[in-house]
Order: sequence, then C-alpha cells, then structure tokens
Amino acid sequence: MAEPDAILAAIESHFSAPLAGLRALVTSGPTIEAIDPVRYITNRSSGKQGHAIAAAFARRGAGVTLVSGPVALADPAGVEVVRVESAEQMLAACRAALPVDVAVCTAAVADWRVKEASPEKIKKEAQSTRRNRPLTLELVQNPDILAALSAPGRERPRLVVGFAAETIDVLDNARAKLGQKGCDWIVANDVSAEGGVIGGEMNQVHLIRRNGAEPRVEDWPRMTKAAVAERLAERIAEAVSAAPP
Ligand code: C5P
Repeated sequence: MAEPDAILAAIESHFSAPLAGLRALVTSGPTIEAIDPVRYITNRSSGKQGHAIAAAFARRGAGVTLVSGPVALADPAGVEVVRVESAEQMLAACRAALPVDVAVCTAAVADWRVKEASPEKIKKEAQSTRRNRPLTLELVQNPDILAALSAPGRERPRLVVGFAAETIDVLDNARAKLGQKGCDWIVANDVSAEGGVIGGEMNQVHLIRRNGAEPRVEDWPRMTKAAVAERLAERIAEAVSAAPP
C-alpha cells in the first residue's frame, strides 16, 4: 500500500500540476515572409495570447514547446522556445516537436508567401524607367499548420485546438473553420477594430468543441488574454483527465 506522504504528494501534484506528464505544442506570433533581404509581408500579431497559453500550460506542469514567429515578448518560464520566421519554418519546427498530446495553434500565419523571394534588394530604379509603375509580386499559398497537425495519422495529437480570428459572423465562421481544418476545438474571437484585441491585453472568445453533429459553444466573458489562457488550460486539464492517455 502507498505511504500516506506519497498519496498526499500525488493529490497535491494533481491539483498544483494537473498537466504533469503532458506534452504540449503551442504556436504563437506572426510569420514573416521575405520579399527580398530587407522587405517582408506579415500579419498583425503580438504573440500575447499564444505566449500566455504556453505559460499557463507550463505552470500546470506540462512539457511545452512554443514555436513562435518574431515577437517583442520575453520567453515564458519553463517553456522550450523555438524561434522561426516563415510559415514553412513554423511547420517544420512543429513537425520536429511531435509527438505531443495537445497542440494549440495561436499563431497568425501569413496565408501567402512571395513565390520567389529575391536574393538581392529589389531596386526601385531597375523596375522601370517610367516612374510609379506598380511592382507585381506573385504570391503562393502557405501550408496550413493547423490543418496539417489535425490530419489523421500516427502522430496526430490527441487534442488539436485552433483559433479563429474573425471580424464578422464570428461564430458561423469559426464553426465552419472547425470542419475545414479538422481540429477538435476552436477558440473564436472577434478582432474587429472596435474590440482592440490585436496587440491589446483583452480578449473575448467563444470555445467551440466538436460534439457529434452539433458543436458545443461556450461563451466566455471579456477577460485578459492571460485569463483566457488560464481558462483554456483548465478546460484542457479537464478533458485530459476525463480521457487519460
Ligand atoms: O484560416 P485562418 O487563418 O483564419 O485560421 C486560423 C487558425 O489556423 C489559427 O489557429 C492559425 O494558427 C491556424 N493557421 C495555421 N496555418 C495557416 C493559417 C492558419 O496554422 N497557414
């Protein structure tokens, strides 16, 4: 029979470290896609939400790999951080972090990249002798990291969570995204300018969970990104303890 101290320690770690033993992958921040060595295209993203999620997982005892695009944030404590720039690098870093139990894709991945980035700085003068002639960039679609991680296979995480940043029809668009991407849960948030979500401290989200034919929607009140991260980590701890590995 186990010693009382061992039982107490197990109970304590269950409550203080409910994600102990869990491996988690989180993507965060934007990706940047080179046009030439000095110019790039990107998305607006501070990385605050993704970094807060990685920190919340680590505080609950999970082993966390955070794959992040360029952000001006400190590395969260107790997290392995892999820094990348482009979507292709982010996908490669995510694949290298597998296998994991849970993946949360918070990154604002650029949907397109320049088909062939110029190895040299593109000179305005070389474009044309005629002034103000538009420069045309050919863009190709980037890989979808969330969809790639959600695809059935031996290395698919048990739980894959996406984010849906929408400016209109937030819930409908997010529900559709759950189907398109093949993930298990999606966190929908309204990032229209009025909310001040992008770059700000606050967020308002809905957690949408796959639940047979009709997804289950939980509306969360407006709260800080740190609080969203805490609540998401709690929900994940509940889901994991209901269906242990
Ligand atoms: O399609 P959309 O960009 O709106 O989907 C958002 C979700 O998909 C987020 O979880 C984001 O991290 C993920 N995503 C991705 N790779 C892409 C585009 C989006 O992982 N190329």
